[in-house]
Amino acid sequence: MLDLDSLLQQELQGLKDRGLFREMRRIDGMQGPTVIIDDREVILLSSNNYLGLAGHPEVIEAQYRAAKEFGAGSCASRLISGNISLYERLEEKIADFKKTEAAIVFSTGYMTNVGTITALAGKKDLIVCDKLSHASIIDGARLSGAAFRVYPHKDLERLEEILKRSIRYRKRIIVTDGIFSMDGDIAPLIGLIGISERFDAILMLDDAHATGVLGKDGKGTCEYLGIKEGVHIQMGTLSKALGNLGGFIAGSRPLIEYIRNKARSFVYSTALPPAILGGCIKAIDIVQGNAGLRERLWSNVKKFRDALLKLGLNTLDSKTQIIPICIGDASAAMKASEFLLKNGIFAPGIRPPTVPRHR
Ligand SMILES: Cc1ncc(COP(=O)(O)O)c(C=O)c1O
Repeated sequence: MLDLDSLLQQELQGLKDRGLFREMRRIDGMQGPTVIIDDREVILLSSNNYLGLAGHPEVIEAQYRAAKEFGAGSCASRLISGNISLYERLEEKIADFKKTEAAIVFSTGYMTNVGTITALAGKKDLIVCDKLSHASIIDGARLSGAAFRVYPHKDLERLEEILKRSIRYRKRIIVTDGIFSMDGDIAPLIGLIGISERFDAILMLDDAHATGVLGKDGKGTCEYLGIKEGVHIQMGTLSKALGNLGGFIAGSRPLIEYIRNKARSFVYSTALPPAILGGCIKAIDIVQGNAGLRERLWSNVKKFRDALLKLGLNTLDSKTQIIPICIGDASAAMKASEFLLKNGIFAPGIRPPTVPRHR
């Protein structure tokens, strides 16, 4: 009989040898500026809970009320019997927030990207994305069967070169993060819109990290850059600044109807639990009505980045709340992170393939 365990052990040893073996820390206590690890309170510097909404009493209360009214789970996909009325309220709220005709909620951001990209692209199409795009974009592109090209980070000239040679494809789809998830810089979205218009390409924006954070009302990268049109598909997550779980697409009504019919990760998966939907509805209200939360975030970001730069650390080209400290080597990054934890700060090392090797 094949010895699966020893095969896997060999692979795992390879990861350990290269400093890439992954383990998880057990976290106790409420998500907030600090958490409990190994019975010690430590400062949490690695959460996407940018506005503190994961621990917001009104959000927690809304989740509790939704569970009391609708039960613990939805127990079917949206298209069968999981489409409880809270979904429609949440989708209307998202469409209003993002200033689009309609929106559709998926169970995770990952499923949103994979489902949407595979629904839109097939063998005759071309997908082009930034080298630092999130894994869910890359997985969606690979799974779609479309031709797939990557341009160097924010290099619009290379993107144009790729598109100049793309006449033979039926659809061309450009996908970019709004805020890049590991570098914390912002996509050159105005340039991307110009290119997508010149080459008749579809433009999809993954605003996972910008939603709730960028722009006066927290609507994301488009609001921040003063963009009213030109982005066909706005993706976002409910799992970062909104402090919860889920992903969404906001866009035109035909786009949303198309996705509802074609995205397999939407069609073939159980709907979110009611509590999550209730919490997200409340979180969007808080995000829209509380510019003060963002003001505090940006003031903290400035204070923290200035201090890191004063220490001579390399924070890449970060312009946002995602502030990388680039160490350059996986093992050294893990050692730095262990040192910080010993000193009361939880900032886990991020290694390839989540970030490029030796940058
Ligand atoms: C840019 C980006 N897109 C999509 C996702 C996936 O979202 P989720 O964690 O909600 O599945 C993430 C988060 O990990 C992300 O950083």
